[in-house]
Amino acid sequence: MFSTRPIRNEKDLFGKRHKEAVKRLNKTVREGDFAAILGPRRVGKTSVINVFLNKYGSKYKYLYYDLAFGMGREAISYMELTPVMSNISEEELDYSATLNLGLVKMDIKPRGVVEFQNAFLNLLRCLNKKGERVIIIFDEAQVLPRFAPLNMLGMLQTISDGFENVTVVLSGSMPGLLERILNPSEDKPFFARYVERIHIFRWELEESVEYLKKGLGKRKYTEDELVEAATELSNVPGFLAYYGKLRVNGEPHDRAMLMAVEYAVKLWKLDIRNFIRIYKSPAYVIALKKVAKGPSFGVTTEEILTEITSLTGISERRAKEILKNLVDGGLLTKPKRGIYQIPEKPLRMAILEFQDREIYF
Ligand SMILES: Nc1ncnc2c1ncn2[C@@H]1O[C@H](COP(=O)(O)OP(=O)(O)OP(=O)(O)O)[C@@H](O)[C@H]1O
Ligand SMILES: [Mg+2]
Repeated sequence: MFSTRPIRNEKDLFGKRHKEAVKRLNKTVREGDFAAILGPRRVGKTSVINVFLNKYGSKYKYLYYDLAFGMGREAISYMELTPVMSNISEEELDYSATLNLGLVKMDIKPRGVVEFQNAFLNLLRCLNKKGERVIIIFDEAQVLPRFAPLNMLGMLQTISDGFENVTVVLSGSMPGLLERILNPSEDKPFFARYVERIHIFRWELEESVEYLKKGLGKRKYTEDELVEAATELSNVPGFLAYYGKLRVNGEPHDRAMLMAVEYAVKLWKLDIRNFIRIYKSPAYVIALKKVAKGPSFGVTTEEILTEITSLTGISERRAKEILKNLVDGGLLTKPKRGIYQIPEKPLRMAILEFQDREIYF
């Protein structure tokens, strides 16, 4: 029952809102709208997409791209843009479409970015003409702009404007960065089509406890233990799955908690490192540490800006940008105007433990 890999079967997908997200995704795609699946890390975005594909995928033609590998990278080659899953078979395509599919799947190596881009659009054009609904899914889509010179945003624009039977699903754990793709500034290409935003949230405390109870079945546990696990792991499905797995494998509560928190902190440290790889400045860690050391209800903009500017000497305008990037990247939340919080307990621990030398790798 407890799996630390994305869920595929609907019966394993726990939580009313997760199940509703699958239905909404199907409805959106069926109606031909673009969809964006937004939610923090390890909350079940990929699971929702997988369950959707597993349940409804046979009704559509799809190409599924998992771009998670690009999260800590500034530049990604189009040669790495290969679908991890697709149900488009060569038999039902004509010769040129087969060739394009080969280039898109990299079975045949394209000779350059332009050839690849053309192959992609030609394949979609051909599928679009057949009248079946086609879905292109990009998991962790906030990295799409980093495929330059491959113009992914331009391709989305072309699909949106010209291919009425093709729908794009974008998922991302960096909500603000994904919004920048959905709503770019005036000087960038943008697609005018309506985008249905499907938010996935961490579980409520009761849901977390229910999930653990369901998975633990007749094993021995106390209500307090489960509440503690849910609270310390901030109701994050991915971390609770890990805790549950340890319990099922015979670890007592205290040890399972310790190991699950350690796992969560380790993953968050990796995420922070990936973030800094893209954004570079040590000011990010300074800002995060300032909030992490403050009270759990949050730290004011003023306090953080003062800390950043006094320790680094950068301008206040630049310091404000840093705060905005941290919120867009999902590392800080802004519960109300002028207040910043760390969204999860394990993230707070990861920040406090983060060594400054780690900034420079
Ligand atoms: N609704 C759910 N029911 C049961 N398990 C879940 C659910 N959502 C997530 N999980 C578990 O949590 C873990 C993370 O899920 P998943 O990979 O789908 O999340 P994600 O949001 O895509 O994460 P990431 O940010 O790493 O891409 C997996 O082990 C999965 O089994
Ligand atoms: Mg995922």
